[in-house]
Amino acid sequence: MSKYETEINRRRTFAIISHPDAGKTTLTEKFLLYGGAIAQAGQVKGKKNTRAATSDWMEIEKQRGISVTSSVMQFQYEGFCVNILDTPGHQDFSEDTYRTLMAADSAVMVIDAAKGVEAQTRKLFKVCAMRDIPIFTFINKMDREARDPFELCEELEKELGIETYPINWPIGDGKDFQGVYDREKRQIIHFTGHGGAKAATATTVSLGDEGLDDLIGQNLHARLTEDVELLDGAAAEFDLEKVRHGKLSPVFFGSALTNFGVEPFLEGFLQMTTPPLSRMAGETVIDSMEDDFSAFVFKIQANMNKAHRDRIAFMRVVSGKFEADREVYHVQGGKKLRLSRPQQLMAAEREIIEEAYAGDIIGVFDPGIFSIGDTLCAPGKKFQFDPIPTFAPEHFRRVRPLDTMKRKQFLKGAEQIAQEGAIQMFKAPYTGMEEIIVGVVGTLQFDVLEYRLKNEYGVDIFMEGLPYEYLRWIEAADGEPVKEENLTLGTDTKLVEDFKGRQLLLFGSKWAVNWTGERNPNLTFTPFGGGEE
Ligand code: G4P
Repeated sequence: MSKYETEINRRRTFAIISHPDAGKTTLTEKFLLYGGAIAQAGQVKGKKNTRAATSDWMEIEKQRGISVTSSVMQFQYEGFCVNILDTPGHQDFSEDTYRTLMAADSAVMVIDAAKGVEAQTRKLFKVCAMRDIPIFTFINKMDREARDPFELCEELEKELGIETYPINWPIGDGKDFQGVYDREKRQIIHFTGHGGAKAATATTVSLGDEGLDDLIGQNLHARLTEDVELLDGAAAEFDLEKVRHGKLSPVFFGSALTNFGVEPFLEGFLQMTTPPLSRMAGETVIDSMEDDFSAFVFKIQANMNKAHRDRIAFMRVVSGKFEADREVYHVQGGKKLRLSRPQQLMAAEREIIEEAYAGDIIGVFDPGIFSIGDTLCAPGKKFQFDPIPTFAPEHFRRVRPLDTMKRKQFLKGAEQIAQEGAIQMFKAPYTGMEEIIVGVVGTLQFDVLEYRLKNEYGVDIFMEGLPYEYLRWIEAADGEPVKEENLTLGTDTKLVEDFKGRQLLLFGSKWAVNWTGERNPNLTFTPFGGGEE
């Protein structure tokens, strides 16, 4: 047993996923409010508002700053030490967003009660489902007109292919949203006061209470009685094992804006979710409770500020305890090193830390030695954590240096940035002059590429949008390199290769993928990675 068992056991590390505007930022902030990490709501949110303003470089830098400061937040709640991982949405959605999910042990999925499952929810859900981690659903914005809760649960099941189990049930919606019914305790949690910046006040009343008509009104009482009968009659049973394996999603209702239902959710979720999960290193299971420290790098944030060219490597501590300045072994680099000045992010502030435990995320200054997926462990150990999957790019551009004399610097810079995992690079060597095609998960990465090439390598670039959205590795039946003239390709399909010479096809539509498959039966297609719908 580990010496640090109590510390590790009380940790809960999760990511919040949602479609933009469903209320992820608001909910995160309310968690921090309930956890006492911020005194009043509005602090996290305020930063976000500056984000959408303009798109000039300063703004991108600010955005990046924000993604650094809001990458991980830690707070204490009723004995739990909670780590929230942010998954950026909107225009800064990128491969990092997916990778961040690799560092989480569970996910909180925020759904807008008027909209149900939306595109980005679906994508992020898919990546969580790949790992079978527990997924908790918070149906938000109940203070607005909402869709029927039964219908919403049904949609989750149908669209995402996961069973659902409502832990609580909303009483009314819009202006009439009064509280939630706790199914296990058979109690109504009735909220009063517009929570907003302060915690909401709640009264608890049992379902059979005589005063219920007066409290919530006859109509809502009648509807609740009916709904509860339907819910109790439904076949689905609550099964914690299924929750822990991502097969059943517990559903909670509430309003992050008014705070109604936020605390019941936080409490219920923290009780049900798992302490830090083990990770695989080949055949070996590395358990969080092992004494020896181990961690893996899941994100590298290059600082865009030229004045201090630092990069921060974010790592998830998998086992044991991390201590600042103690020697660790960097497996991929084959070197022992000391991680000095490690940082942790408390609410909106960076802090230098001395120690961290399994489940925690730390950021360390990276002099350029780490790559995504690298393992750090105790000296004397040599295992490598399973690699972090690559995610399929969804946007493509043809990129060239404005000054043809700078082609060498351009290639060097772009390759370096590709190695950091921010972009994918392909070439189309079949058209005379070699053409470079860059693929990204989120379009902000194009701006980052342009800025970094200019500032770090002195190369101005020209980018041209390409209409592709899907890609597949291809292989011919005879194992020989595929020649374009032997293929039947539509106009929205392009043959390219990566920098190791492996061939791929880029497609403008899902339809084109199928069409090409049918017309080129000697080709085998392999999907690029996760994320793609
Ligand atoms: P996101 O991080 O998922 O993108 O969503 P965010 O929390 O920023 O919320 C998006 C908008 O929805 C915000 O309004 C926010 O106030 C609102 N919102 C979040 N939760 C609730 C809720 O439970 N009920 C209601 N009615 N609204 C909610 P905004 O007008 O875009 O921003 P703001 O001016 O209010 O800050």
